[in-house]
Amino acid sequence: MTDLKSDLISRILATGPIPVSEYMAECLMHPKYGYYQHQQVFGGAGDFVTAPEISQMFGEMIGLSLAQSWINQGSPTDAILLELGPGRGTLMADILRATKQVGGFDQLDVHFVETSANLRGQQKGAVPKAIHHDTVFNIPDRPILLVANEFFDALPIRQFQRAEDGWSEIVVGVDGQSLRFGTVPQGAVAHLEHRMEDTSTGDIVETCDPARQIVDHLTTHISTYGGCGLIIDYGDWRSLGDTMQAITDHKSVHPLSSPGLSDLTAHVDFESLFNAARCTTSRITPQGVFLERLGITTRAQALAAGLSGQKLENHIAAHRRLTHPDEMGTLFKVMGLAQTQAHLPPGLEV
Ligand SMILES: C[S@@+](CC[C@H](N)C(=O)[O-])C[C@H]1O[C@@H](n2cnc3c(N)ncnc32)[C@H](O)[C@@H]1O
Repeated sequence: MTDLKSDLISRILATGPIPVSEYMAECLMHPKYGYYQHQQVFGGAGDFVTAPEISQMFGEMIGLSLAQSWINQGSPTDAILLELGPGRGTLMADILRATKQVGGFDQLDVHFVETSANLRGQQKGAVPKAIHHDTVFNIPDRPILLVANEFFDALPIRQFQRAEDGWSEIVVGVDGQSLRFGTVPQGAVAHLEHRMEDTSTGDIVETCDPARQIVDHLTTHISTYGGCGLIIDYGDWRSLGDTMQAITDHKSVHPLSSPGLSDLTAHVDFESLFNAARCTTSRITPQGVFLERLGITTRAQALAAGLSGQKLENHIAAHRRLTHPDEMGTLFKVMGLAQTQAHLPPGLEV
């Protein structure tokens, strides 16, 4: 049994079942036993691979899009590059490298929002000038050029199951020495009223309060101080069903089997982000379409000219993985944010 599991079992026996959101938050962010405190979570030797770790081309395209949006806003020198949940810092390092020729852009201050002490250390290694914050609520009153890749899918969700007369919340309880899912009747739930139309008894829907609060705050910030943003994540316009998944060593495992040792994520419900936004938002665009519009294939061809053998094979596979509809191209979506329509990052439309 993991240390976190015995901790959770004692707590649940003392105070009763906990919502899925509390379970997810403990598994990912517990200061001692949380998943992101572990050394090796990314890459081939870790549990999963994210887009920036697949190829430098991902960061290059993001960098060009943000830099062009910054130029379109008159190149404000007090703007900050802001990344949420930067993982190993690879994306920001690629953004800065790819935009070196854009006068003044790579001189901008870089701010990271990150809760994991372990990852903060790795991020400082990749981008030494980065300044860390615990939450988005502490960032300075300046224009922001925001990027968040696979950040929102790591935020704790609540799960509700449609009942005959309203909703039941799915909770985590204890059965002997094991954790078990159960339900607690809730009756009518105000913020799920719109889901009474498209669900029937037994259906599961998910909500993510932290995601709504973060988008509300950052988009109010963009409206007030300027800037733009790119939110990239897996999910759809409206989530339906149980999308929480646990991954250990690139394989799917039961979400309750090894708390703290597997990555837990859930699909992002882009409709709720859109409804929380207080600035101009783009359409939700598939990642493959977004990257193609920014010229990833031309860039891939240029890089391929200098490669051969296995390196070339890997490069072709990476391009396919990022863009193809059967891989990350359709499952992952991009949502753009800006103070005005003219300042939306290129690759997106209203
Ligand atoms: C799946 S990783 C994505 C890493 C990186 N963006 C990438 O694409 O490789 C999620 C990141 O978000 C961070 N994170 C998760 N929840 C967070 C929270 N509530 N506040 C700040 N950072 C968080 C994790 O520590 C990690 O850096």
